[in-house]
Amino acid sequence: MNDKRKELIVSAISNGTVIDHIPSENVFKVIKILGLDKTGKQVYFGTNLDSKKYGKKGIIKISDTYFAIEEINKIALVAPSATLIEIRDYEVTRKTNVSIPARIEKIVKCFNPNCITNKEEVSTKFSVIYDENGLMKLSCHYCEKNTSKDNLIFI
Ligand code: CTP
Ligand code: ZN
Repeated sequence: MNDKRKELIVSAISNGTVIDHIPSENVFKVIKILGLDKTGKQVYFGTNLDSKKYGKKGIIKISDTYFAIEEINKIALVAPSATLIEIRDYEVTRKTNVSIPARIEKIVKCFNPNCITNKEEVSTKFSVIYDENGLMKLSCHYCEKNTSKDNLIFI
C-alpha cells in the first residue's frame, strides 16, 4: 500500500483541527479531555494507524473547531508527542507541537484519598514538577502530595 492510500484511511477535512501522532492507547482519553464526546461538530478518529515515526499512532480530526494552545496542552499529559494541525480550506495553515503546561486544573484527580478535592466539591489544582529522574509529577495545590504519571485518573 502506498503512502497516499494510508493517509486516506481517515478522510481529509475542509476546515478544523487535526491532532496527529497520539499514542493509540490514549486516543479515547484525548477525546474525553477535550470534551469531544459532547461536541456537535463532526469528529473522526483512528487508532493503530501506521506511522513512519512512531510505528503505530492515533489521530483525531474535528471539523469547524480550533483550540487555544492552553486548552490543547492539557492533552500533553497523555499525548506528549502530539501535533496540533489547523486546516483552512483543505490546506494545513498551522502546525504546533503540544507542550506540558506548568499548571493543570480540574482534569485530573489527586492521588491522596484524604485530599480536600476528594472529600468536598473543590476542583483540583496542580503544579507540574519533575523528580530527580526527570519523571513528571503533579504536585497538589491543597495537600502538597504528588501524583505520578502512572497514577493519573482523569475526571
Ligand atoms: N489533513 C487533513 N485534512 C486536510 C489536510 C491534512 O485531515 N485537508 C491531515 C493529514 O491527513 C495529516 C495531517 O493533517 O494527518 C497533516 O497533514 P500534512 O502536513 O499534509 O501531512 P504529513 O506531511 O504526513 O505530516 P507529518 O509528516 O507531520 O506526519
Ligand atoms: Zn491533593
